[in-house]
Amino acid sequence: MKKAILIPVEDAESARSDLLKNELLDGSRKIKLISLKGEKFLEIPVKTDVKGYTVIEQDAPEYYEKLQSLKDRLMSVLSSDELKHVPSRWQILGDIIIVNIPRKIDNRKIVIAKALLGMYPRCKSVIQDFGIKGQFREPNRKTIIGDKVETINKEHRCLFKMDVTKIMYSKGNLPERKRMSKVGSGEIVVDMFAGIGYFSIPMAVHAKPRQVIAIELNPVSFGYLCENIKLNHVENIIKPINGDCAEVTPQDVADRVIMGYVGVTHHYLEQGIRAIKKSGGVLHYHETTPESLLFDRPVTRIEDAAHTVGRRVEILDCRRIKKYSPGVWHVVVDAHVQ
Ligand SMILES: C[S@@+](CC[C@H](N)C(=O)[O-])C[C@H]1O[C@@H](n2cnc3c(N)ncnc32)[C@H](O)[C@@H]1O
Repeated sequence: MKKAILIPVEDAESARSDLLKNELLDGSRKIKLISLKGEKFLEIPVKTDVKGYTVIEQDAPEYYEKLQSLKDRLMSVLSSDELKHVPSRWQILGDIIIVNIPRKIDNRKIVIAKALLGMYPRCKSVIQDFGIKGQFREPNRKTIIGDKVETINKEHRCLFKMDVTKIMYSKGNLPERKRMSKVGSGEIVVDMFAGIGYFSIPMAVHAKPRQVIAIELNPVSFGYLCENIKLNHVENIIKPINGDCAEVTPQDVADRVIMGYVGVTHHYLEQGIRAIKKSGGVLHYHETTPESLLFDRPVTRIEDAAHTVGRRVEILDCRRIKKYSPGVWHVVVDAHVQ
């Protein structure tokens, strides 16, 4: 028989944390609400007898469904050789699943997509991912199942609307998006590579800067940036500009500048540094750096660009955001510029 403690609802929370702390809670069964002589009690499943509580044998224990892996679901459909190539990771944005399917099992993509939809019944489409290309960092993606390509992804109390076949959204940058949501309060900020508002939106929603000037060149991303500003009700904070930040970045205005782009970000460092007020401000400079050049290359690039435009820098922090490709890191360097 399966045991549970019987506890009045009002005492349940402290009992539950007590059981959890002592590793006595049985997580395979659900906590049940029951009524006894008009009073509400909870049955909290436990692994064994527990001193100090009323322990009962449950009449009708309720179990959590065991989550089946994608491989488990495809066990009877794919050969053992095919199963070896079944992906173990995918991305869910809003109600769309994005998956990279190895070429060896490309001919099995429909059954794989159906199995994924079975795992996430609220999702509407499965999109195949082939990587990211070009200056606009556009994804190369094709629909496997479903008509839906536009979705709204909710993250950290912010809404990001996008067409996932045209716009990339890196889960690996989440900690950096959260970090940016904590800085900039009351400041003037320039976000030079704003995309759909990856950094501008969380900063505007949470930190409430005086103004964020968000620059984006790609008209598709710019369209979503404008929509996301409205969706998150930050029209009074973010000023979107559709243009090339090499040409439209304002000078001597910013308390903070975000350069959230990779590959060629260093080509724009002089504009980024010039955007910072003469009285001083902070630069968040991103780049993709080979492991052997960490963090000397991005630091030297910032120092050289500052020297060229006659400004002084102090490096505040260097951090890795994520592995970008074998031996290469997406990094961000924070610098104070005067
Ligand atoms: C995709 S975002 C970077 C990714 C983002 N940090 C994230 O969290 O996923 C970079 C953006 O910079 C834009 N971009 C590239 N070159 C630009 C330029 N010269 N001026 C303005 N925007 C540019 C791209 O179109 C793209 O939307």
